[in-house]
Amino acid sequence: MPKDRFILALDQGTSSSRALIFDRAGQIVAAAQREFTQHYPQAGWVEHDAEEIWGSQLAVAREALGHAGLAPAQIAAIGIANQRETTVLWERATGRPLAPAIVWQDRRTATQCARLLRTEQARLVTERTGLVIDPYFAATKLAWLLDHVPGARARANAGELAFGTIDSWLVWRLSGGRRHATDVSNAARTMLFDIRRLAWDESLLDCFGIPKAVLPDVVPSCGPVALCDEGCFGASIPITGLAGDQQAATFGQACLQPGMAKNTYGTGLFLLMNTDAAPTVSRNRLISTVAWDLGAAGTGPAYALEGSVFMGGATIQWLRDGLGIIDSAPEVGPLAAQCADTGGVVMVPAFAGLGAPYWDPFARGALFGMTRGTGRPHIARAALEAIALQSVDVLDAMQRDAGMPVSELRVDGGASRCDLLMQLQADLLGQAVVRPHVTETTALGAAYLAGIGVGFWDGAAEVAAQWRPERRFEPAIGEDERHARRHRWHDAVARTRDWQR
Ligand code: G3P
Repeated sequence: MPKDRFILALDQGTSSSRALIFDRAGQIVAAAQREFTQHYPQAGWVEHDAEEIWGSQLAVAREALGHAGLAPAQIAAIGIANQRETTVLWERATGRPLAPAIVWQDRRTATQCARLLRTEQARLVTERTGLVIDPYFAATKLAWLLDHVPGARARANAGELAFGTIDSWLVWRLSGGRRHATDVSNAARTMLFDIRRLAWDESLLDCFGIPKAVLPDVVPSCGPVALCDEGCFGASIPITGLAGDQQAATFGQACLQPGMAKNTYGTGLFLLMNTDAAPTVSRNRLISTVAWDLGAAGTGPAYALEGSVFMGGATIQWLRDGLGIIDSAPEVGPLAAQCADTGGVVMVPAFAGLGAPYWDPFARGALFGMTRGTGRPHIARAALEAIALQSVDVLDAMQRDAGMPVSELRVDGGASRCDLLMQLQADLLGQAVVRPHVTETTALGAAYLAGIGVGFWDGAAEVAAQWRPERRFEPAIGEDERHARRHRWHDAVARTRDWQR
């Protein structure tokens, strides 16, 4: 492969569409990003416009190519990492979405999930999919669309409609409507996929009332997926990498050995631990998920234990957009540093219910312990602590499931650049936190998958060799203080449970 070629990674996240170009050393050559509109049409509902996602994603990809001054022919391959579970239903004939995409944070199907939890089928769902029954995953969102968009169910049965998570939607549009595919890591988030057989599961399709005709083909995360339509970039670049953003980040963090774990501070918080070639059944309310399958470049699927927390960086966005106490997200660190502690304030950011390890779609956000002395710095600091404490809860559960401690936690995502947050994380965890040189590990992971798929990189060993730490944060508080702060947090969380039922 000539050395003057590059990989284009598309990182389609919950808050923004991003495109990054990487060279052979795994370094960023160019990047572009666009935020897009979040729609909250009713309490608990979160929607995206799939057309806006596509438009913004294509625009940033073209922009990144322009910044780098590259001809499309210099792009060896495209890798896609995407916000997972977000559900799109479109018309095969026109590529037109039938309704707004239902975002992973959306809670509209909470009652259906609560009902399913009380049935015999609940065990089957959990065993086959490795998931916890929750509105988070795609199955009940898709069923909702089929039931609420006029005529959708009949048209789906007739094969006129296509369902996809955002990876499938982008592949469809990039390929000019010629390819309807998803990868195993995204399929594992639908609640319709058997993670051991790596196939759509008939019993699960029956359980959720999903016609097989709407489903995409399932492919490995690495290897040929589709060719881009020339209309996109002026060359038919191959798409050879596809993965859910958190699995891509785990790969980009080179968590390639069992027991290695990463935490991404994106819109949500997603802690994943590599559990090797078989799924681990969680006893502590985490989920088992397919991490990736390198196809011809690997030896079968890798699995991970995951703790998904819904409000990570989104808590900081809320300080900016909801509360208006900061003008931009990076201001949160300096503001929080204006006080030495939260002055007893505890924030539970259960704005979208609580994810792992609580799984309570009916919990709601709260601020506790305010006095007349409480000011903006205390609230900012409480928000950072809440992000760290939610991650502590997940890592505790993960270590209990795995029966071994994590030696260090690799961190990435936008908010990982906040030193105060990383220090709080190490303090409250009581373990080291390590930030790599490239914190764009989601895009990097997608690039690695695509690059390996096209022979640009040799394989996973090269990924491990390129990973380099930038800074290590060590715990700086004692066990008693850590215990007291965790105890106060758990007390606050308990008070938010079941609020909205
Ligand atoms: O499961 C949802 C997750 O994939 C969203 O990731 O980076 O958009 O917060 P992010």
